[in-house]
Amino acid sequence: MTNKEIKIAYKEFDSIDELESKDRKLAQAAIEATKLSYAPYSNFNVGAAVLFEDGEIVKGANQENAAYPSGMCAERTALFYASASRPDKAMSAIAIAAGQNGVICDYPVTPCGACRQVMAQYQTKSGAPMEVLLVGGRKIWKFEKIDDLLPLIFDSI
Ligand code: THU
Repeated sequence: MTNKEIKIAYKEFDSIDELESKDRKLAQAAIEATKLSYAPYSNFNVGAAVLFEDGEIVKGANQENAAYPSGMCAERTALFYASASRPDKAMSAIAIAAGQNGVICDYPVTPCGACRQVMAQYQTKSGAPMEVLLVGGRKIWKFEKIDDLLPLIFDSI
């Protein structure tokens, strides 16, 4: 028997102003994307912005439905739109922000498990680490790759 350990590394910033300009632009896009949310049931507005390797950014936001499971998270809305509109381009980063009543949450909102799995596969498809920025008003967390949010990713088939 061998004891094993998985460590997760991430960086914490106190303000969007501390980010390098590429990350700041992506974080701002995620904050803007919260305005695209359709969330009449939860009133929880999540925005996501996906950065392609060539610098292009696409946005997505959560979309709710009266048949609750038919709704979709911001991250998957953005990722599916990104892949469906630019199928041959690699994605290099995703930023996520959330807010309520027009105010961005102070602390980062972390993506659900299903969104992490989808991020993982687009990282594999892109062939390079996909960075993740979780953007709060008072703290921002930066992960270098999806594996840090989803260790032991399922990619066996
Ligand atoms: N939501 C997201 O958009 N992303 C997540 O990672 C977790 C939750 C949305 C789904 C729903 O519209 C609202 O937040 C409340 O759960």
